[in-house]
Amino acid sequence: MNVELYERIWMWVAAGLLALFLCAIFVSAGVNAIQPPSHIETVDPTTLATHPEFGTPGVKVQPDGSVVVSVVAQMFSFSPDPIEVPANRPVTFRLTSPDVIHGFEVVGTNANAMVIPGYVSQFTVTFKNPGEYLIGCNEYCGTMHHNMVGKLIVKKESR
Ligand code: CUA
Repeated sequence: MNVELYERIWMWVAAGLLALFLCAIFVSAGVNAIQPPSHIETVDPTTLATHPEFGTPGVKVQPDGSVVVSVVAQMFSFSPDPIEVPANRPVTFRLTSPDVIHGFEVVGTNANAMVIPGYVSQFTVTFKNPGEYLIGCNEYCGTMHHNMVGKLIVKKESR
């Protein structure tokens, strides 16, 4: 079978691009620890106010020292705000929404999840650098979407 030279060149270019994109996936998953969500848990969005966990969102320290933060994202704020967590300790965020889809992104870190009504989005991160971080909603959720911001304070551990 005869394949034209130019055709052959483009076939190799296409194959090379595919290999490059595959590499990009593996590098971002391995080096930057970007992972697709794997936690599936449902919650009734209509009764969040009386929910044992999300009725009183906040930061809870577990007996083993790990930290769990329950967050309710709703038009157009995050609760609690600010969120205060210790540095260099695993922090598990549990997020849900009573109204529409929101985003929860801690700017400058890889903490970033979609907040979907009816579901609990959960992920665990360890913040190494103490300081103040901006939390932004990165899913368009209504007229005041651009004002939907929160603050995360990462505190240095006092020993
Ligand atoms: Cu909430 Cu955009």
